[in-house]
Amino acid sequence: MTDTATATAAPKGDLLSKFDDTIQTRETLLASGVTDPFNLVMEKVLSPTRAICNGRDTILLGTYNYMGMTFDPDVIDAGKQALADFGSGTTGSRVLNGTYQGHKECEDALREFYGMDHAMVFSTGYQANLGIISTLAGKGDYIVLDIDSHASIYDGCKMGDAEIVPFRHNDIEAMEKRLKRIPEGAGKLVILEGVYSMLGDVAPLKEMVAIAKQHGAMVLVDEAHSMGFIGENGRGVAEEQGVIDDVDFIIGTFSKSVGTVGGFCVSNHPKFDIMRLVCRPYVFTASLPPSVVATAATSINKLRHGANKRAHLWENSKRLHAGLKELGFELGTDTPQSAIVAVIMPDLERGAMMWEALLKQGLYVNLARPPATPANMTLLRCSLCAEHSAEEVETILERFERAGKATGIIAG
Ligand SMILES: Cc1ncc(COP(=O)(O)O)c(C=O)c1O
Repeated sequence: MTDTATATAAPKGDLLSKFDDTIQTRETLLASGVTDPFNLVMEKVLSPTRAICNGRDTILLGTYNYMGMTFDPDVIDAGKQALADFGSGTTGSRVLNGTYQGHKECEDALREFYGMDHAMVFSTGYQANLGIISTLAGKGDYIVLDIDSHASIYDGCKMGDAEIVPFRHNDIEAMEKRLKRIPEGAGKLVILEGVYSMLGDVAPLKEMVAIAKQHGAMVLVDEAHSMGFIGENGRGVAEEQGVIDDVDFIIGTFSKSVGTVGGFCVSNHPKFDIMRLVCRPYVFTASLPPSVVATAATSINKLRHGANKRAHLWENSKRLHAGLKELGFELGTDTPQSAIVAVIMPDLERGAMMWEALLKQGLYVNLARPPATPANMTLLRCSLCAEHSAEEVETILERFERAGKATGIIAG
């Protein structure tokens, strides 16, 4: 070993050395001179669809602000009032000093929104999955889940120590095969998502929920990316496909259409309330600040009457999907299925180049790469907002065309 090698080698037992490959990938990417796509700062946020990034007025096409609620005047007023009346934080768990009037009102708003008997608010959507899944399914139980499930779902499974049985993405037959193999009498939970966030595709919930029920499984659906937008009342894909009454637990988040932070589970199960005492990620953490639950409750109540916004968001999604396809980009879905339109990049380097070319023109999208993406894909994920105007969508398409040609991703 040379002196230099000795100097730079990781000390024996360095627990961070397992990340060396990731460090190397990042360094190679940055060495190409590209702006760090995972370190962007929003210097000022002007509206749900615009921010100042690197001193430039930028259209935001990579937020989860689907319904554009973050600057809704009623939502802002509710947050300000709660901050003034109840202070900046609860400094306690929901089961001790951390349940305020606002937390109850937020759970009431969720019950109304979904027409369900029970609602439980968590500090994030991640914690809602972690808590509900790990508490429902423990050692000896089986969880049958789509292989492309969100990290918070996998982490919930791991925490509960149930047997995890993944099946191929959106494959109804594969799901049924797995269910058939589970020993008679074992506890079974099927976990599905309404919209899968990487490609923006929708699950065949109608068929999958029916099969799960035939096999005696309980069903949990994560509607993080569909709440507020999909379904007649914005309840999600389970509502849209007519199976919401057969779903035992719906998980959601406030960090997308609701426009703030927090997570929840709603259910009609008569014993659901016991979760408040036995679910560790609910019990052993501080509750959401009063201003957050006040903004969430106001936003959820307004989303119940969001039919016009939903219709406009569909228009935006359809136009962007069709426009990108016409330009020659390869997309994650053949047809627009949600507010997410994923553009498939040839590799990480060219994906980062395209991402930067868009940013320099004043357009922000999400760069997504493995392990978050399926099949090792690099994606430019576009998520539309009900507040994007039709003109903004045209501008977005022009910027895609220019950047795509400049980077050689589409023919010039
Ligand atoms: C499907 C899904 N579930 C849960 C979450 C976690 O939500 P939160 O941001 O509230 O932690 C996300 C976040 O991206 C998600 O995509």
